Amino acid sequence: MITLIRRLTELADQQASVATMLCDVPSVLRPVLAREEWLPANHKAPHPDHYQQYLLYLDPQGRFSIVSFVWGPGQETPIHDHMTWGVVGQLRGNEVSTNYARSADGTLKVTGVHTLKPGETIAFSPAQGDIHQVRNDSYDVSVSIHIYGGDIGRTKRHRYDAATGVAHAFISGYSPASVVAWNA
Ligand code: FE2
Repeated sequence: MITLIRRLTELADQQASVATMLCDVPSVLRPVLAREEWLPANHKAPHPDHYQQYLLYLDPQGRFSIVSFVWGPGQETPIHDHMTWGVVGQLRGNEVSTNYARSADGTLKVTGVHTLKPGETIAFSPAQGDIHQVRNDSYDVSVSIHIYGGDIGRTKRHRYDAATGVAHAFISGYSPASVVAWNA
């Protein structure tokens, strides 16, 4: 985790482009996905009613954040965007992302469905189109590690009505958990 934080800080200090982030960050994230002992129990604990998003690290200048997402069986996000680039890596279980694009009439159409499996990563940006819904359609808890190009819990972004495509502003916040002092 320290290696990941250091590399992300270096890239941020270099004011790396979004293209560089999308290219470089997956390879730095991948070793973190090989084991899950490093992730404290309270940062991978599911909630009985909805998915959790625990802040693992926030850059002091707010240039990036690292978050663990935890889904119980069948739990899902709303259809949403991010307003920043992101890289996601799967730690445990499978997560299914349904991707959307806007049609000419303003509604949303499904452009693809992608399953992320343990050890795999995926990168996205608003310019490429990043509207999606994520769900855990297995019978086990799933956990993934998300990196965003900003303080995602405080970023004003959008959730979308599936039927009409109408966007609603929202700020996700973070699930309550104590701050971690990473030393490994
Ligand atoms: Fe997302």
